[in-house]
Amino acid sequence: EAAEKSGYAHFMLKEIHEQTRSLQKTFAGKLSELEGNVQLPELKLTDEQIRNIGRVEIIACGTSWNAGLFGKYLLESLAGVHTDVSAASEFRYRDPVMDCNTLTIAITQSGETADTLAAIRNVAQYESSTIAITNVVGSTITREAENVVYTHAGPEIGVAATKTFTAQLIALYLLAVYLGRRRNYLLPDEAKAIIKNLKELPGNVQQVLNQRDLIRKHAVRYAANRDYYFIGRGLNYPAALEAALKLKEISYIHAEGYAAGELKHGPLALLENGTPVVAIVTKGRTYEKMLSNIKEVKARGAEVIAVADEGDREIGKYADLVIPVPATNPLLSPVLSSVALQLLAYYTALEKGCEIDKPRNLAKSVTVE
Ligand code: AGP
Repeated sequence: EAAEKSGYAHFMLKEIHEQTRSLQKTFAGKLSELEGNVQLPELKLTDEQIRNIGRVEIIACGTSWNAGLFGKYLLESLAGVHTDVSAASEFRYRDPVMDCNTLTIAITQSGETADTLAAIRNVAQYESSTIAITNVVGSTITREAENVVYTHAGPEIGVAATKTFTAQLIALYLLAVYLGRRRNYLLPDEAKAIIKNLKELPGNVQQVLNQRDLIRKHAVRYAANRDYYFIGRGLNYPAALEAALKLKEISYIHAEGYAAGELKHGPLALLENGTPVVAIVTKGRTYEKMLSNIKEVKARGAEVIAVADEGDREIGKYADLVIPVPATNPLLSPVLSSVALQLLAYYTALEKGCEIDKPRNLAKSVTVE
């Protein structure tokens, strides 16, 4: 086992570090920057089917559901198609309104999650087209869905999903750009810019990994806390949800992710002096709004750890601590924030002496209901 960990103390840490290469594998051979196009020959959707998509329904569980929420934001802004995201365990017992113009996307790392499989089987009655996004070649979901997009992140041993999560995000970028271009919704120049930034991501991830000592220091400082909150807006909201899930999964600290604009509708009541609040505040449409949200939580005594763009001079005036990530396209920065916050969860659990690769009560793949 020590050999398989290639010198890392845990599979999770190894898998976090592998993201510089795994992201590249997800998009390898699929990008043509010159024309601003994404190639997904594995999809057997006709022009007519793509044009007629009225709605996308994403079904997934856990971390894959968080990736699905990213997918909603991306598909709506890049492909102009209304998207809903459902927990597979809920979807399978609902009476969804869908038809042959609904595109169903099932996201599952393992391809074996019982609820996700049951949900996609239910979809058959609506004659909806189906796409599975999975990491495991030949897994059950690949036989249930009409189309399969593999994430190619390589095997993941740690129970906490890390490299497979960011690979799902990349697969969703590919899909959103692909559909956006084929639906003539996304302009070639916009697609070119995203593709260029996508190619730069692996290098950016390395820069985040280089911050590991700083992130570890922050993690140690708050490891004894009982509660932790993560806030973000737009695409940084699903990143906040995923960061909270990661922390609770492996460190057993009570952690919640919130859309920052929702704070005043309840969660603010939970804040006490010294409660750590991680604010994902990379530059984008809601940057100024996030600064106001940080002021709100600071006024209640919370300590704010900001994940912000490198070179952001403003943020130091608002936050107690800063984790810098390379500045990139706001559509892509959540990938970098997610890597930083995977490290925060890892080092917190390490400080607490938790069994990181096999957290209590959890299985890598939930194959029973
Ligand atoms: C992720 O860290 C968790 N272990 C869990 O939420 C997981 O994402 C969920 O069980 C779904 O698994 P899947 O992607 O294999 O379907």
